[in-house]
Amino acid sequence: MRVRLRCVNCGAEYDVSYKMFMCPKCGQVLEVVFEPDELPPFEEYRRRSRMHGIWRFKELLPFKSKKPVTMGEGNTPLIRLEKLEKVIGIRRLYAKFEGANPTGSFKDRGMSLAVTIAKEVGARAVVAASTGNTAASAAAYSAKAGLKTFLVLPKGKVALGKLAQSILHGAVVVEIEDNFDAALEAVKILAKLEQFYPLNSFNPWRLEGQKTLAFEVFEDIGVPDYVIVPVGNAGNISAIWKGFKELKAFGYSQELPKMVGIQAEGASPLASAYKSGLKVPLFTDNPETIATAIRIGKPVNWLKAWKAVDESGGTFEAVPDSEIIRAQRMLAREEGIAAEPAGATSLAGLIKLASQGYFNGDEEVVIVVTGHGLKDPDSAKFHPTERIRALNVEDAVEKVVSHLGIVVKT
Ligand code: F0G
Repeated sequence: MRVRLRCVNCGAEYDVSYKMFMCPKCGQVLEVVFEPDELPPFEEYRRRSRMHGIWRFKELLPFKSKKPVTMGEGNTPLIRLEKLEKVIGIRRLYAKFEGANPTGSFKDRGMSLAVTIAKEVGARAVVAASTGNTAASAAAYSAKAGLKTFLVLPKGKVALGKLAQSILHGAVVVEIEDNFDAALEAVKILAKLEQFYPLNSFNPWRLEGQKTLAFEVFEDIGVPDYVIVPVGNAGNISAIWKGFKELKAFGYSQELPKMVGIQAEGASPLASAYKSGLKVPLFTDNPETIATAIRIGKPVNWLKAWKAVDESGGTFEAVPDSEIIRAQRMLAREEGIAAEPAGATSLAGLIKLASQGYFNGDEEVVIVVTGHGLKDPDSAKFHPTERIRALNVEDAVEKVVSHLGIVVKT
């Protein structure tokens, strides 16, 4: 196996280093390029135990480990959305439900690989900036690996479930009086110190774990026409695109999907620029959205995401918070899927694009639902609910029965 690092901007190539994250020549992010050894038939991956998590695809990962840190991450369900596909007017619509990962988000795929590397290179501690899910996942995987964990979080802007996970797994929580973008700057500085290993998505090895989502979709339904992904720091959409490109380059598949990135309107540096025909993002200092996971003004992987959308012939779109909440409700109440607000932005984007005539109706579409609804219990307050107060057993029975409008004979 031949592995190199390549700058996504200037194309400079470098020998493998697990501590080089930005191109020394131009400062942009790097990607891992590799020529695998002989690959097994795709069926072989399917035969392997789900206990191996992302390592089921070990020949497609650029890092070999005898003892990977895994919790069986990935292997998440691809769920057909039969009701929503009819309403929206799509031939076949699926949700890749990443909330079913061990810590409830897609981050676990990347964390399994990045924490394995951190352990094997002998890091003393790991560090991550986060809007919450990276934190929860880093805390869990690092606990399993026996590594000390530092998390830099924007104070007051991390959803309750994610904060609870970080605390439960014993991480040191640094609450910064600033936003995620500032937290990430702090981590970039700490990452230069020998003792710390960074677990953010400017670390290209983490994204190698996240590309396995593409392999699983391919395993279940082949290559869909569209993959729609919520975008924050812009790593995941580029990782998924890389996964599909590798399936084709290595001879497993014939086609490629179109990649569509969805941002929240108040935090849409990529979507706003793309739709205005610009070639660079419109960074913002004050991102704001109810979908706190993607409340990001300066996505570090913007160029990778931009290329994913451009090369694949997809698009970016932005959706207002009201549509995100509506999509969260539709997923929960029509299809039984609990998504946190950021996780529902892919559906909100799909609905918006469909209403603009973007699809012809004959497509097969996968929306990535990136995080579980339990992550953000406060978001339940945006949805109407029927609550009944009951004083005792008889009262509860009577009220439920009369609520349904039936008469029970005793
Ligand atoms: N959806 C959820 C639920 C997320 O937590 C994130 C990112 C995204 C989408 C966007 O993915 O950054 O790869 O474009 N959360 C990061 C975090 C920033 O710190 O947990 P991206």
